[in-house]
Amino acid sequence: MTAFQGRRIVLGVTGGIAAYKAIEVCRRLVDGGAHVSPILTDGALHFVGETTFSALASEPVQTSLWDEESPIPHTRLGQGADLIVVAPATARSIAAYAHGLSDDLLTATLIATRAPVIVCPAMHTEMWEHPAVQANLEILRARGVIIVPPAEGRLAGGDIGTGRLAEPSDIVAAVEQALLASADLSGLRVLVTAGGTREAIDSVRVITNRSSGKQGYAVAEEAASRGATVTLVTTVDRPAPAGATVIKVSSAAEMQAAVMPIAADHDIVVMAAAVADFRPVTVAGRKLKKDEFGEGGTPQIILEPTHDFLVDLGLAKPAGQVLVGFAAETDDVVENARAKLERKRLDLIVANDVGAASCGFEYDTNAVVLLGADGMHQDVPLTDKRIVARAILDAVMALRAGPD
Ligand code: CTP
Repeated sequence: MTAFQGRRIVLGVTGGIAAYKAIEVCRRLVDGGAHVSPILTDGALHFVGETTFSALASEPVQTSLWDEESPIPHTRLGQGADLIVVAPATARSIAAYAHGLSDDLLTATLIATRAPVIVCPAMHTEMWEHPAVQANLEILRARGVIIVPPAEGRLAGGDIGTGRLAEPSDIVAAVEQALLASADLSGLRVLVTAGGTREAIDSVRVITNRSSGKQGYAVAEEAASRGATVTLVTTVDRPAPAGATVIKVSSAAEMQAAVMPIAADHDIVVMAAAVADFRPVTVAGRKLKKDEFGEGGTPQIILEPTHDFLVDLGLAKPAGQVLVGFAAETDDVVENARAKLERKRLDLIVANDVGAASCGFEYDTNAVVLLGADGMHQDVPLTDKRIVARAILDAVMALRAGPD
């Protein structure tokens, strides 16, 4: 697995002759397995075409704050990014970023992100050496922005000097290094459960719930992209993150049988699955026929409770393991979730109001409250499930680090 696999990279391209080299950077990142979202400034569009980037990148080019249906594309791109690289970066874009001027989609995204940022300047030697440009770069460096300095060589118009955009291979190497450095889950084993369980009535019918597994998969993807070794116990067929060990199960009992023997081998356990609380007492080994129940008759399905194995995981939790449960609620969300956190001896619970608009089951978005055994309470307002996954794993890592 490469450092790029599954990582979300925003590639910012500003207006300079070297913009054509960003096409090669884009191609190499996508080839490495990254999900690349290109943002082109108006200036960049004078040098390169949208079509080339849209064809090579993982999603179409965005050029403006007002292209998308969403009125806030910069927060989506900024919060969702694992890394932002600006290549080439003009003197103007460097100045705007250094001074927090968010007057276009790229600078707004740069200011809306907490991900590592790499800036690759390209300009004429006189501009590069100008104290204003150097002072702006110093401001960015002091904030942790990585600067890939320009090289010496032939510049636009035939001049020779320093200011030529670094080679795509050097830019890609800087991205790789920054991604490796941000792989904060590297060396950790993460077990995630996902999806709703299916409890058989007969050989063809099941009782299940609306869980799509999307939130669990988002946690698995986020963990893998941050360097973790991931085991995914799932009831659904979705593309799993590269390198993950996938164990496919169906019922609550099967999920329990898969999880219990391996849970102790994991540093982090995230029980995102919607495990059935009840299952039919008897399961017919064949299809039940209507005429078995007489004219207009219906079967009586008697249910029994399933075993809550998250309770077992809480009791058997090895020292140092962080155990995360989910609480799917429709009423008194926070109170019910805190009670579950305590009763099941969890370190963290993700309280999910599955009755709220655009939240929970089947949606790509979610809004949750994270509650920690240490008293932590964090609202994660409606956003992509991947960003919710990031907040969950950030909270897990804060718990592992202990109090400041
Ligand atoms: N869970 C489990 N085994 C079960 C039921 C639930 O391990 N048989 C886990 C789920 O994976 C989830 C957490 O327990 O992480 C909470 O599940 P939820 O159904 O919200 O809570 P319950 O404890 O079942 O409480 P209730 O149904 O009364 O809300």
